[in-house]
Parts: sequence; C-alpha cells; structure tokens
Amino acid sequence: MKKIIIDCDPGIDDSLAIMLALNSPEVQVVGITIVAGNSPAEMGFGNAKKVLDFMGRLDIPVYVGADKPRKREYVNALDTHGEDGLGESFFPDVPGQEIPSETAIEFMRRTLKSGDVSVVALGPLTNLAELIDTDLSAFLSIERLVSMGGNFRSHGNCSPVAEYNYWEDPDSAKVVYDTLFEHGKKIEMVGLDVTREIVLTPQILDDMKQVNPVVGDFVEKITDFYFKFHWEWEHIRGCVINDPLAVAQFIDPSILQGIEAFTEVETGGISLGQTVVDSMGFYRKESNALVFTKVNKKAFWEMFLTRLLGMEASDCKVRFKEIFE
Ligand code: RIB
Ligand code: CA
Repeated sequence: MKKIIIDCDPGIDDSLAIMLALNSPEVQVVGITIVAGNSPAEMGFGNAKKVLDFMGRLDIPVYVGADKPRKREYVNALDTHGEDGLGESFFPDVPGQEIPSETAIEFMRRTLKSGDVSVVALGPLTNLAELIDTDLSAFLSIERLVSMGGNFRSHGNCSPVAEYNYWEDPDSAKVVYDTLFEHGKKIEMVGLDVTREIVLTPQILDDMKQVNPVVGDFVEKITDFYFKFHWEWEHIRGCVINDPLAVAQFIDPSILQGIEAFTEVETGGISLGQTVVDSMGFYRKESNALVFTKVNKKAFWEMFLTRLLGMEASDCKVRFKEIFE
C-alpha cells in the first residue's frame, strides 16, 4: 500500500476522488488536508467529513490549512459547486467533528518526514507553498506529487488560459513549480487536457444507480447541481469530474501519458494562472513537470466504477457498454 495525503477543496469532484481513493487497496489515505478553493476552508472540512461519514471512514483525520490564497483575494467556486460546496445536497453536518488544533501544515510536516508519503493535490497549491516556506525538507520528502491543475493545449476554465486551482492561487502554484525545478524534482500535472475527457453522463449515473443504489444515489445528490452548471455554461450533457483522474493516475500511472517539460506559472496580467509548458525546450531548462496529454478513458472508468460500486470488471463492461463498446 502506498501512503498518501489528499490535499483538497471539497468540492464535488474532490469528494468523488476521496471515494475512489478509499475504495482502492493500493493506497492508504493517512490524512486529508483542506485548502480554501471551491469552498471556504471550514466548509471544505465539513464536506470532507460528510463524505468520510458516508463511507464509514471517520477514522481518517482531516486537517484545515490555508483559508485564502498566498497573495490574491480569495475567490471561491460555489457557483459551480453549490452554496454548500457539495452540489446543494445539504447533507447535515456530521456531529462531534471539531477542527483539530493541529494545522494541515503541521500534519504535513510530521507525516512527510518519513519519506514514503505522497501528496495528491486536488485544489489550489496554497498549503504546499506554505509547507515550502515552513519546512522545505518536508516538502522535498514528498515521494510523488500529483496535482489536478493547469492546462497545456486545452483552454482554461477560469480565463481563456487558466485552470481554477492555479488561477485561484497562481503565486502558490509558481512557488511549488519553481521549487521543484530548483531541486531537480517533478510534479505530475493532471490538467484540463486530460480531465476534460472524463465526463460523467446522465446515462452513466443512471446505470450507477441501478448497479449500486446507495452509492449511485449519493453520487446523484452531489452531482445534480454540477450537471445543471455544465449544461448552462458549457452545453455539456454531463459533468467533467476532474479530481478522480488524479487519484487514478497515482494508482495506475499507465492511465495517462504525456510529456516532460519545464513548466512555470504566470502570476500576473491577462494570462494570470496559466501554466506555460515549454514543450519545445525554448528555455533550455530541465523539466520539473510531467504534463499529461492522453488518457485511457476505458481504464479510468473501469477503475472508478468497479471500485465505487463494488462490481467486477467483467460485469462493468456489460453494464456500462456505452463506455466500453
Ligand atoms: O479546475 C478544476 C479544479 O478546480 C478541480 O479540482 C475542482 O474541484 C476545482 O478545485
Ligand atoms: Ca478540487
């Protein structure tokens, strides 16, 4: 089992990613750290607890980190994730779940020192930049750093060129990418180029409800708002579920293919938050990022559906033939 910290901003797709990780025997989630992003940090804490409660996994500790970006004004994404940050499912708060006095950064510092813990980052990189400020050696001890964020050739979702996680806090994203470059390390960037390929459609959701009504109903409750948002803004029948793909990539690195390139994050001006991926080597700088450009969609859906629904792969291919035909 590989140990991971999930750093996230739940968040509808963050919640689906947590569900995938908790149903995957290859990973041990040693803790969840919350960062302000889709939802304000305290709301994200409560939403993580709601998902853990549904999964019967309140044993997993949740810590609260940054409540705003490194420099910019905080801009949430509740327009996309609903006023409760969980698709306006309005699940009641889980009783008796206080925010721990230990902060996300303190938890990361003491946990990462062992050197065999990875981080799957599903929100803005504010906590990781703060970790770099506070304890660089702990940050450099991260075994693998997988981040849902950024975009290479695909257009942005917050501006023509920027993806939300890196647009909401470009300064932190820049600190992380620059620090990795300075120390000869790499981030695995699961950006919009590949996550846009992962669309939960009404058909898939209906079939999920048939196969496992309890899980299907929960997924429907938290994604219904997301479906409406995607139809209204992007005329997509379905919703792009970005974050679970980062967990899937951690579990099975063959699901995504891409390029190694020096990548830097723009922090100002019209292209603020853009990941500038030097795929042609103009800057003659060593790569600090594995930037994904291709996804094996069938492999993702088989992993996601069999694990969330508790079904065999052979059965999955029959029940969800619209994916596997
Ligand atoms: O741009 C998509 C990303 O921003 C996802 O991680 C979503 O949850 C939001 O955090
Ligand atoms: Ca997220």
